[in-house]
Amino acid sequence: MAKITVSLIKADVGSVAGHTTVHEKLIATAQRKLDEAREAGLIIDFFVTHVGDDLELLLTHTKGVDNEEIHELAWNTFKAAADVAKELKLYGAGQDLLSDAFSGNVRGLGPGVAEMEFTPRRSEPIIAIMMDKTEPGAFNYPIFKIFADPFNTAGLVIDPKMHQGFVFEIWDIIEHRRVFMNVPEEMYDILALIGAKGRFVIKRVYPKEGSPLPKDEPVAVISTEKLFFIKGEYVGKDDPVALVRSQSGLPATGEILEPFAFPYLVSGWMRGSHNGPLMPVSLKDAMCTRFDGPPRVLALGFNLADGKLIGPVDFFADPAYNTTRTIANLIATYMRLHGPFEPHRLPSEEMEYTTLPKVLEQIKDRFESIE
Ligand code: F6R
Ligand code: MG
Ligand code: MG
Repeated sequence: MAKITVSLIKADVGSVAGHTTVHEKLIATAQRKLDEAREAGLIIDFFVTHVGDDLELLLTHTKGVDNEEIHELAWNTFKAAADVAKELKLYGAGQDLLSDAFSGNVRGLGPGVAEMEFTPRRSEPIIAIMMDKTEPGAFNYPIFKIFADPFNTAGLVIDPKMHQGFVFEIWDIIEHRRVFMNVPEEMYDILALIGAKGRFVIKRVYPKEGSPLPKDEPVAVISTEKLFFIKGEYVGKDDPVALVRSQSGLPATGEILEPFAFPYLVSGWMRGSHNGPLMPVSLKDAMCTRFDGPPRVLALGFNLADGKLIGPVDFFADPAYNTTRTIANLIATYMRLHGPFEPHRLPSEEMEYTTLPKVLEQIKDRFESIE
C-alpha cells in the first residue's frame, strides 16, 4: 500500500459574536474549496470542522508533509473563509493569517499544522484531537499518558507489540532545537523537560525497534506554532491540534481518550492569559462562552480506506465524559474566583507574550528605587 499523508491544518479566521464559534458559512466555504480540490485530484478526501473560533481542515493526500500545493490549498481555503468573515463583519476576520501572501508553506504564516505521512495498515484508525483557548504544550500531558504511562495505557504492560515503548521527539520552541528521547528508559528526563509545557513540547512520537510499525513513520504529531513568536506581539492564542493513530501495536482508541477524562489545567483561557481546566466536548458544544472558555477539546475518530476518511465518531459526545465536564466546571469556578491573581492568571514570564507589557509600560516611569 502506498503511503498516505494526513494533514490537519487550522486557523482562526473569524468568529461570531466574539471569539466563540465559527459561522456555518465559513465551514461551507471551506467545504466548497476542498471539494473542488478533491474533484481536481489534489487531495483524496477532507473533513471540515471547528472547535471554538478555529476552523479545522483535515486533508488526506499522497503528496507528503510540508507539500507546497497542499499548504497553498489550505492557505487559499482560509483566505476564502476569511473573505466571507469580512463580508459578514465577523469578529477577528482573517486574524490568524499573519501574512498577505503565501510563500511555499503555511508554517510561520499563522495557521497551526499537524501532519504525518505513513504506510496505512490493513485497518488504520486515526484520531484528530483539536483544542481551543490553549497552547501546543497542552498536549504534553495526554501524549505522555498515552504513550508512556502504564497506568493509562494497559498495552504498554500487556501487549508485546508496544511493550518496548516509544520514541518522543521533543521541541524546545524558545531555543529552536529538538531532542529524541526514549520511553520508558528516559521517562524522568522527559518529564523534566515536558513539565515545562510553555517551552518544551512533544512534536512527534515514533515506534521503537520491535514494533510491527516502521520506525521512521510517526504515530502521533502535534502542531507547535506559536503566534507570538511569528508576529512578535500578542495576536491570539495558539490553539493546538494533534493526530494520533490507534490500535494493533499502538495505544487503543480508549487508551488515547482516557487522559481527557481528567480535566487537567492548561494555559490560554481568556486573553491567552489564564490557566483553566480542559473540558472535553462534543462538536455540538465546541464553542467557547464562559470567560471565553473554559478551554475545550474535541476528538473525532476516523478510519482510512485508501485515503478516504470514514467517520467521524464524535468521541466526547459520550456520557462517559459527563463527570469530567462537571468536574471541569467546578474547577473553572474555583479558578475564576482568583480573578487576576496567579495561578489563575499566568506566571509573569508567560504574561510577556500577552498584552500586559503594554499596560506596564504606562507606569514604568513612576517606579523609584528603594535602598
Ligand atoms: C481569543 C481569545 C479571547 C480574546 C478576548 C479579547 O482566542 O482567547 O479570550 O483574547 O476575547 O479579545 P479582543 O482583544 O480581540 O477583544
Ligand atoms: Mg481566537
Ligand atoms: Mg481559538
